[in-house]
Amino acid sequence: MNYKELLKQRLSEKRYVHSLAVANEAVRLAVKYGCDEEKAYLAGLLHDVTKNTSREEQLKMFNDFGIMLDDVSFAAEKLWHAISGAAFCEKVLGITDAEILSAIRYHTTAKADMTLLQKVLYLADFTSADRDYDDVDVMRSLVDISMEKALDYALSYTIKDLVQQGRQIHPDTMEAYNFVKEKI
Ligand SMILES: [Fe+2]
Ligand SMILES: [Fe+2]
Repeated sequence: MNYKELLKQRLSEKRYVHSLAVANEAVRLAVKYGCDEEKAYLAGLLHDVTKNTSREEQLKMFNDFGIMLDDVSFAAEKLWHAISGAAFCEKVLGITDAEILSAIRYHTTAKADMTLLQKVLYLADFTSADRDYDDVDVMRSLVDISMEKALDYALSYTIKDLVQQGRQIHPDTMEAYNFVKEKI
């Protein structure tokens, strides 16, 4: 299957460009940190495959695939595409690699004790060339120094941002944060 063509059909131009940029950044980090480059590329390319998928279509996928969302995930629609995206890659695209699927599954919330590929994708989503937010320069320099330092910064940034917006924080994100804090 030509994944780029599929993404062009499913995503906005901006999100398509982002997907290519994350794939490239994931490969760069994979080379730097000794992760499988092909897996990093594929995970990066496909991580937002359902990002522009409607609420209704995603709810149908959850139903069809027997996926139960926890309360925090259900309330935060931004988190849905990680769950529906991993399911889409597995059930529709037939991707069987559990590492790739779980990297996509946790690319938004993160989780405790992440695999190298999960970290690569999570961080590449913050530092890809198309990204532009206040602290992107800090993130880009940290990711070249240490994955753990970059994770600490990214998770702290995310949690602060969610608190400022008065939003809930997914338990996986809190566990990721607590785990990283023990390591550094
Ligand atoms: Fe995403
Ligand atoms: Fe993304």
